[in-house]
Amino acid sequence: MRTALAVINQRIWTVWAPPLAFPTRQNRRLRQALRTLETFLHQQIATRRQQGEPPADLVTWLATRRPEATGEAMPTPQVRDEVLTLWVAGHTTMAAALVWTWLLLDQHPAVADRVQKEGRQARWEALGTAPDLRALPYTRLVIAEALRLYPPTWVTARTPVRAVELGGYTLPAGAVLLLSPYTMHRHPAFWEAPERYEPERFQRERALGRPRYAYFPFGGGPRLCVGRGWALQALPVIVALMARTYRLRLVPGSPIWPVPALTLRPSRALWCTVERQTPPQEAGI
Ligand code: HEM
Repeated sequence: MRTALAVINQRIWTVWAPPLAFPTRQNRRLRQALRTLETFLHQQIATRRQQGEPPADLVTWLATRRPEATGEAMPTPQVRDEVLTLWVAGHTTMAAALVWTWLLLDQHPAVADRVQKEGRQARWEALGTAPDLRALPYTRLVIAEALRLYPPTWVTARTPVRAVELGGYTLPAGAVLLLSPYTMHRHPAFWEAPERYEPERFQRERALGRPRYAYFPFGGGPRLCVGRGWALQALPVIVALMARTYRLRLVPGSPIWPVPALTLRPSRALWCTVERQTPPQEAGI
């Protein structure tokens, strides 16, 4: 996965990338990586179909479910593609969201203190379902603001089905329009001091009146991110759970800036020291 993503990240900014069939060094690396992923996924699917009691996870569900309409299990290549899509779309974005959140918390110690306090007050054993997130209101604002400044999916695309006038331009049917959450999330028409990190701007009173699509880290409409609900539940839980006990401190080094690769990544690895702040009170956490 790492090799495939590294090659794809390079291809994104190449003016002309040779088609995958061309035996360039990079293409060979990518094809080899895709073969490795394919073999791995085929094994996973086959094992789950053969096991009497496969693990209760999404791969099992996709591999073994027989929709009533057809009565047939999904063909293996389709299961493989579904799993690979969820894997890439789910893990690169979540990793980016978390890395930017930790960086911002390191740069804003007062915010990190509040997240820590909230994490310590929450009852962790109860944090299994979406309504329990009410216990983490501030952490949720912190995540929302990180996704504003550094939306992991910094660009998404739409194609008009027929010609349309927009802002004085005629867009032909079939054109590819790139919509950038990164640009929109920092647009001064919609955001006060857009470059400032300020989680409170997502408080209900302050968000009122803001156009809906001034903020779209998960896209929108029928192609809205299918993992949105899951991400918005998992991110605050992960952040608060870690912040209650640990403080990540960035090792000083060269400047960091956002690099628009497949997802928005930091320009270099973020080495951190992990400081344990209090021993956890509850056993097992
Ligand atoms: C912080 C985390 C995430 C961000 C910022 C994010 C962002 C996005 C965006 C912007 C899109 C395109 C939507 C559009 O064009 O309207 C998208 C699509 C998608 N996302 Fe996410 N995503 C995240 C997490 C996840 C997770 C955890 C999963 C899976 C478990 C996931 C699976 C997908 C899939 C499968 C699509 C394609 C949906 C479709 O075209 O119908 N994403 N995501």
